[in-house]
Amino acid sequence: MTLVMGCDHAAFGLKEIIKAYLTEKGYAPEDVGAFSDASVDYPQIGKQVAAHVSEGRYARGILLCGTGIGMSMVANRFAHVRAALCNDLFSAAMSRRHNDANILVMGGRVIGDVLALEIVRTWLETPFEGGRHQRRLDLF
Ligand code: RB5
Repeated sequence: MTLVMGCDHAAFGLKEIIKAYLTEKGYAPEDVGAFSDASVDYPQIGKQVAAHVSEGRYARGILLCGTGIGMSMVANRFAHVRAALCNDLFSAAMSRRHNDANILVMGGRVIGDVLALEIVRTWLETPFEGGRHQRRLDLF
């Protein structure tokens, strides 16, 4: 599965932790930044990740900002993007099972590193159920 990820300054540390985790698991994620905790405007990063997923260059994306709210707002403006703000495990699993989410968004100022990694693992491993849920996605 191809993966692209990005963050703003508020979640730079978490992005590095997630990137290391994904690399260890063999995902080889593309990182579009930010590359330090210097202040950056989250739409610039969110648009890059969303465009990659929207245009099919990467199957899935992960976006991080302070709350996750701004990044999810930006990403969901792109065609074919279903970005889900998941700061808990249940939402992460359901965003895959029922919504076929293709971008996971989390808030680096909302959750801790251990929970974030568990959310990432759950989100990557949970399949879409299809069926009536596909019919609903077709109504978007
Ligand atoms: C940055 O201060 C903060 O506004 C941003 O990370 C994010 O939370 C926006 O939704």
